[in-house]
Amino acid sequence: MDTKLDPWSSNDITDYSKLFEEFGISPFENVLPEIPSPHKYMRRKVIFGHRDYEQIAQAMRTGAPFSVMDGFMPSGKVHLGHKMVMDQIVWHQEQGASAFVGIADREAFSVRGFSWQKCREIGVEEYILSLIAFGFKPDGLIYFQSGCESVKDLAFELGAKVNFSELGAIYGFSGETNLSHMLSVATQAADILQPQLEEYGGPKPVVVPVGPDQDPHLRLTRGLAGKMNMFRVEEREDTKTGRKYLSVRGKAAPAEALKALQKRIPGKVKLYEGHLDVLEYPDRAGLEKIVGEVATEYGGYAFVPPASTYHRFMSGLQGGKMSSSIPDSHIALTDDPKEGAKKVKRAKTGGCVTLEEQKKLGGKPDECSVFELMLFHLLEDDDELLEIREECVAGTRMCGSCKQLAAEKMQEFLKDHQEKRELAREQLGEYRIVYKK
Ligand code: TRP
Ligand code: SF4
Repeated sequence: MDTKLDPWSSNDITDYSKLFEEFGISPFENVLPEIPSPHKYMRRKVIFGHRDYEQIAQAMRTGAPFSVMDGFMPSGKVHLGHKMVMDQIVWHQEQGASAFVGIADREAFSVRGFSWQKCREIGVEEYILSLIAFGFKPDGLIYFQSGCESVKDLAFELGAKVNFSELGAIYGFSGETNLSHMLSVATQAADILQPQLEEYGGPKPVVVPVGPDQDPHLRLTRGLAGKMNMFRVEEREDTKTGRKYLSVRGKAAPAEALKALQKRIPGKVKLYEGHLDVLEYPDRAGLEKIVGEVATEYGGYAFVPPASTYHRFMSGLQGGKMSSSIPDSHIALTDDPKEGAKKVKRAKTGGCVTLEEQKKLGGKPDECSVFELMLFHLLEDDDELLEIREECVAGTRMCGSCKQLAAEKMQEFLKDHQEKRELAREQLGEYRIVYKK
């Protein structure tokens, strides 16, 4: 029962289904049919969960504005785990999202003690070059948190709505936690809400693709979105008649804003002090839209709670956890391509100790890091992957041939990616990148 998600220590999540019950993350399969052409991570259940992705799927189908937002703490080498996030950012951008990428230098400064200079170097050299190499388009925004005034201002405002007890409950912060670390949490919430500020077109659905370790930030941000908003739409029930109706609550809203709302909403609307009841307007989404417009006009916020997706972590190439401090457990995107191929050949598989045994019993693709590499990264074709899986289980495929295939693909991928990174270096000037002044 005590699954604890901690963004700052490496989690080894063994049972993803727990996250559904304990944190209210929904299984991704539920929204899969609503997505026009799902990414391979979605089809292959690498993305296993989501919050509110329905609104993103809907925006993709209808062409309504939506955003994808993500952040990277500039902590070290960019690796395959980051590739998963970058792939999803680029994919959402291709599906029509406006894209925002924050380099979390405030987090690296306060949690890791990195200097601003070091954050900038790692931010550009590791993360930004790879992001562009994966196809990030120049109309997206890339910024360092400490260079972005609107994020810093919003972080401060958000800070007024969260106290130490809440941070303690969500993150396990104690008396030892430094103030800037807490501020970096507010900053991350500001990262996530920024795409909905007026300068970026106002309220809209935003998706944040993350690993489950980042979920505490999303829970905090979703709560804050509600607390910041000028109005809240609630469903109520008439105690006498049992009839359902919608009520717009806005205790702190200016009286004129409530009056303006009353005028704008069609049908029977009763105005009270601090709220109004909407008796004949069954379309909640339509009502939320009007409410959002009025809030924005009167200088208030109307944040849509951010949506998120959750992907499985890859396991380490030697089994166990993938860790950036164990070079053989992971492949960096800047690893020498030949060295990358060698790591694949040394990786732990789900095969048996002897060939005879494997022919008889078959291998275990679900416990095989080579299969995982093909599933997550190296094979585009679902049928080819399925065939490998079946042959493995049937005992007609031996690990040597998988390793050979995966190693070749890995070498090719790394070589290609590194060439694209060099091109990206030349294209940096064409991108909107906000650096720390
Ligand atoms: N905390 C994230 C990490 O450790 C980085 C991050 C900062 C982030 N802001 C974000 C992630 C906004 C998602 C959305 O890498
Ligand atoms: Fe993994 Fe391939 Fe060996 Fe099966 S045959 S265990 S998929 S390497």
